[in-house]
Amino acid sequence: HTIDWDAEETGKSGYDHFMLKEIYEQPRALRQCLRGRIEEQTATVDIGDLGGLNPTGVQLVACGTSYHAAKYGAQLFRDAGVSAQALLAHEYATAPPPIGNDLVVGISQSGETADTLSALREARRRGARTLTVTNTVGSTMDRECDHTLYIRSGPEIGVAATKTFAGQLTALNLLSLATSEGSNKRRTVVPALRDLAGHVQRILDSSAASTVAEQYDDAESYFFIGRGYQHPVALEGALKLKEISYEHAEGFAAGELKHGSLALVDENTPVFAIVVGDGEKAQKTVGNIKEVEARDAPVVAVTDGQSDAERYADHVLTIPESRPRTAAVLANVQLQLVAYHVADRLGRSIDKPRNLAKSVTVE
Ligand code: G6P
Repeated sequence: HTIDWDAEETGKSGYDHFMLKEIYEQPRALRQCLRGRIEEQTATVDIGDLGGLNPTGVQLVACGTSYHAAKYGAQLFRDAGVSAQALLAHEYATAPPPIGNDLVVGISQSGETADTLSALREARRRGARTLTVTNTVGSTMDRECDHTLYIRSGPEIGVAATKTFAGQLTALNLLSLATSEGSNKRRTVVPALRDLAGHVQRILDSSAASTVAEQYDDAESYFFIGRGYQHPVALEGALKLKEISYEHAEGFAAGELKHGSLALVDENTPVFAIVVGDGEKAQKTVGNIKEVEARDAPVVAVTDGQSDAERYADHVLTIPESRPRTAAVLANVQLQLVAYHVADRLGRSIDKPRNLAKSVTVE
């Protein structure tokens, strides 16, 4: 499949920055990603031949934002009973070699990242089948891998990845649903995927992220916490803020904060906590919120309001109710907006942050 994007669309079309434009393009990008690939009535997922891959194990390799997508994807496969690992591409040499019917999945917006490319080449040398999840038709990974799953996000100009991360998470759902997950799962997840674009639009229309940014644009450091599918989102929330605001930020698995980094938490350390649903994971994260609150940290809850997280939060960034895996996409939109507004208030070079490149072609 290929998609045409006209010249008009590659301009900023009234937005101050490409990044903001690309954040706002997410509903459309997600619809493109899903077009023709999900069928609600029958709860089926169609990604062509890829559906027949049937991997016994999956290694997901990537760098930067794409690595956070890899961590999310590994959880999808593990939830489906397939052993899966997310690996930093530049550390691939230390990973156990792929065996049997293992699939090595290289996730890369550009399809050109040198570290990821070299991990995929190594995987091929070791005899594994390779697949790339990429935005870029005709990229080196697209050409060299045995299989490609396009995320169809359209061109992304801002150096900091936004809509393509959402596209990666969505495409990884398609991959795990089509290859590894059972029909029961498809019956609940396919409708959640269908609702995703509309839910993202609701967030874009009503986000309080700029108010939150106004409160905390002079913080010492920003912490992000989340469990399960929200852990990679916490990591990504911190990376986004670092990249474009040049402020210190860290993302944690919510349960890990108390094992050391809690020592840094004080009234100048806003903690963004992602809390989805009202199950055991949510309750535990609410417990973690109480821990940082006791150290006077301001708390921003990114939540669907099902738990009592809001009671302990100084600010709330609301997301519509969804499955935990799709809520990750929604929570991430709120954190993209926080990063954007903090960086904008600080007058940073949002589309071209210092020291960074959109595509890193050296190892
Ligand atoms: C660079 C970019 C990051 C990106 C990473 C991986 O470091 O600055 O934003 O996440 O490369 O890029 P890829 O194209 O492989 O997803």
